[in-house]
Amino acid sequence: MGLGHAVLVARDWVDDEPFAVLLGDDIIDADVPCLKQMIDIFERYRAPVVGVMPIDGPEISRFGVIRAEPVEPGVYRVSDMVEKPRPEEAPSNLAIIGRYILTPDIFAELERTQPDIRGEIQLTDAMRALAQKRPFYGYQFKGRRYDCGDKLGFLQATVEFALKHADISRDFRRYLKNLRLEE
Ligand code: G1P
Repeated sequence: MGLGHAVLVARDWVDDEPFAVLLGDDIIDADVPCLKQMIDIFERYRAPVVGVMPIDGPEISRFGVIRAEPVEPGVYRVSDMVEKPRPEEAPSNLAIIGRYILTPDIFAELERTQPDIRGEIQLTDAMRALAQKRPFYGYQFKGRRYDCGDKLGFLQATVEFALKHADISRDFRRYLKNLRLEE
């Protein structure tokens, strides 16, 4: 019943503490892990943080999008957000990527959140309500994001991680060099 519902059913495991949500189809390669970067921001601001990246053009409508004011380089105070807006209605070019650090007050909002037109409870809608009530931040992480929900993105992530992987990179590089592509 949607990402918001998935988070809601995990409530008992969270035990009234801040927690992270990671969407498995967003893979981020970074020197400092993306979640570690976000935990550092959380610890400074003691408020929920969503990972964001700039997306220009019509692609923006594939994401949750924040309306926000910069407070320091890479950190934005969020005043509003919308799930998958039409490109001309997007409040900014800052798209939410599948990394969230949330606080337990999100659960009360999720309980109140009505399913959207497709019957899904959207996490973005619950976060939107929460952002009206308390400080809420977006953080533009440092790192490269792969969209593994997309066939090409999944293949790019697989190839690039393999080329960097200590165990496999030598053999994999040789395999790619020797590959004869049929026309
Ligand atoms: C989900 C969220 C969306 C977010 C996206 C990031 O959408 O609902 O707000 O921007 O993940 O990948 P989905 O990709 O599951 O449609």
